[in-house]
Amino acid sequence: MSLIMITEPYPGVRQLTFNRPDKLNALSSPLMEAFDAALDDASADLSVRVIVLRGAGGKAFVAGADIAEYQGDKRAEFIAYQMNSRRVFDKLEQLPKPVICAIDGIALGGGFEIALCCDMLIVTEAAQLGLPEGRLGLSPGGGGTQRLVRAIGKHAASDLMLAGWRMSGARAFQLGLAADLVEDLDAAVLQRARACIKVAPLAQAEMKRLMREGFDAPVETAKSYEQEVLFRLYSTCDGQEGIDAFLEKREPVFKGQ
Ligand code: COA
Repeated sequence: MSLIMITEPYPGVRQLTFNRPDKLNALSSPLMEAFDAALDDASADLSVRVIVLRGAGGKAFVAGADIAEYQGDKRAEFIAYQMNSRRVFDKLEQLPKPVICAIDGIALGGGFEIALCCDMLIVTEAAQLGLPEGRLGLSPGGGGTQRLVRAIGKHAASDLMLAGWRMSGARAFQLGLAADLVEDLDAAVLQRARACIKVAPLAQAEMKRLMREGFDAPVETAKSYEQEVLFRLYSTCDGQEGIDAFLEKREPVFKGQ
């Protein structure tokens, strides 16, 4: 049984499903390895326009790192696991394609850290998001503290970390963390993915980079990055195609060039 199920629910959409449901899809080392490889593959495959992340089993997206691997003060292994998680999560965040995270259950610890690396979160009422590492005497290690505080601010983030609170799907939507709160997750994810396919791929890659790199840069520098990007995109085939298609009242055909 594959630890990451790879499917194509719609042409151009690569769905990666964490598949260890008996352990609520906890991120064992082999599961992380499979996820890392699946991300490389989806990133390199030109036919893949959008990536969707899901959890198998109906109860959890991902319940965090595999706590069983932590037992026994195995310091070197623990540090290696954390360094590797950080690398994989950074890679996920930096993928040049849109990544949709679909959550209809538990997304805790590393599971929530993965969600925070994605571009759009679609949740149901049943979603439960949190960083409960403090209840284990630990703290997050895959970028969660930093991405969460940047996403929702110190006070809402403190509720999750310092009180170990779990956030509902409705609360995540209310805070602007989730793009949508839905009943039919499959339909909503497909609708978002199909919308993403209509946006030019080079523009998506550049806008992702601008949001990521511009966020921590001085605002005037970030605005200069933005204009450099636009000037570059303007002269691409896709830039000219988008303008022509609009004026000719037809759908554009983007080639990623
Ligand atoms: N690591 C390893 N195993 C985990 C796990 C994790 N992060 N989360 C759940 N599991 C396992 C449980 O040990 C259990 O295995 P078992 O059936 O062999 O005993 C199975 O998954 C089902 O979990 P269970 O705890 O029985 O389900 P629940 O519905 O009672 O509780 C949670 C669900 C998510 C509240 C609870 O599993 C939990 O707190 N998990 C840990 C979350 C966490 O701290 N994550 C951060 C890790 S750094």
